[in-house]
Amino acid sequence: MYIAPKPPVPAEPLPFRQLFRAIRTNALTSWPEAAYEQPVLRRTLMGRTNLLLNEPDAIHHVLVENPGNYRRSPAALRILRPIAGQGLLLSEGDTWRLQRRTIAPALAPRVMPMLIRYIEATTSEAMDALVQRIGGPVDLLLEMQNLTLEIAGRSMFSLEMGRYGGEMRRMLTDYAANHARPSMMDLVLPPSIPTWGDFARKRFQRRWMALIESIMHDRLAAPESDTPRDLFDLLRAARDPETGAGFSPDELRDQVATLILAGHETTAVTLFWALTLLARVPDTQNALAANPSGPLGRAVVNEALRLYPPAYLIVREALGPDVAGQERIGRGDIVMIAPWILHRHRGFWRDPDAFDPARFLPGTPPPPRFSYLPFGAGPRICVGAQFALTEATLVLSALIGRFSVNFESDRPVLPVGIVTTQPDHAPAFRLARR
Ligand code: HEM
Repeated sequence: MYIAPKPPVPAEPLPFRQLFRAIRTNALTSWPEAAYEQPVLRRTLMGRTNLLLNEPDAIHHVLVENPGNYRRSPAALRILRPIAGQGLLLSEGDTWRLQRRTIAPALAPRVMPMLIRYIEATTSEAMDALVQRIGGPVDLLLEMQNLTLEIAGRSMFSLEMGRYGGEMRRMLTDYAANHARPSMMDLVLPPSIPTWGDFARKRFQRRWMALIESIMHDRLAAPESDTPRDLFDLLRAARDPETGAGFSPDELRDQVATLILAGHETTAVTLFWALTLLARVPDTQNALAANPSGPLGRAVVNEALRLYPPAYLIVREALGPDVAGQERIGRGDIVMIAPWILHRHRGFWRDPDAFDPARFLPGTPPPPRFSYLPFGAGPRICVGAQFALTEATLVLSALIGRFSVNFESDRPVLPVGIVTTQPDHAPAFRLARR
């Protein structure tokens, strides 16, 4: 049985300084052993109560029964606003409802056959290009980031990302390295008061949004069509049922930024982690290669999402007092639901750290409710979940069907929780023809 590597877990709750350093450098190392065993963990961070919920009824209450009592946390807003603007990920209230109603149908299961055509065509080109890399070291993290970005651009916005891809990836890497780690002030101050970090984030936001605007400019130059041909046309046609107003140019731009960002980075790391697991477990890799259209591809993707959930933490701030399951929640408390913890919790999973895609094969009983939340739950569940699962399964099966994938070195690849669950280094892979 292959044990999927994870960073060391502190035996005891960390004292303040170490806790803060862990949150800043690798949030996955901020929770002690007890988090993987207990139903609830309380800690106080700079005067604020933080609750980590591992209890299904409590999670159900916060995400599904009473989501109106919760909003995104101040730190999440500070860090995501410069890249996602006022788009669907961060909007609230009526604005969110309109955005969600417009975007969800364009990513619904019904639309998958059309999206699959884009995914397959783009993937097939990428696989042909990978043939040139056989034998030499290959950075499959970068390859997956470029491929998922290309798929997002073409399928949602009918745009080839070639011209922008490099600049976009450079900016996102710079953001993750330099602006996405919360400082103490970022955590303490309300979002209306700018911190030092916010000034740099603001400068980044101007450059980022200018890039998105140039992409939109190119898209707008494409000939008009009577029927909407992609998500961009749907967004442009959307009208508020009460006021009849459409999205303003800035709102449209923020939506495009949100969907390109949320729509590719998470899927890229999902594929990357699935490939690292398969590189270490040749039997499973060979079984997938022998039957790439069978159910194993989806099961490997689901298991990779369990062991390395790209969205490792869902955070909310309580607007008013509440009772979730057995837990009292106070106004202003920070509520954390951590897929990273739930997915490796000893109360829910047998051999929680072991890679075992059979957990997700058809006929196997589903995991206990609310123990597996790679896409969240409730009204704010990931709007792109179907798209992401379809894409990741198709790309993984295509790649493994064509190449055998190995590592150049035995050095373990460890997850780091920043905005998404990234590897601590981009390992060199070696591809061989099957
Ligand atoms: C494996 C890939 C993905 C993972 C793990 C993932 C995970 C998540 C999670 C956990 C949330 C809920 C966050 C919360 O409740 O605070 C979310 C929301 C969201 N995701 Fe994804 N996502 C993925 C792919 C995608 C794709 C492909 C798209 C777009 C095409 C997308 C767009 C969004 C948007 C717009 C939201 C905000 C929805 C709302 O608040 O109404 N995601 N995602």
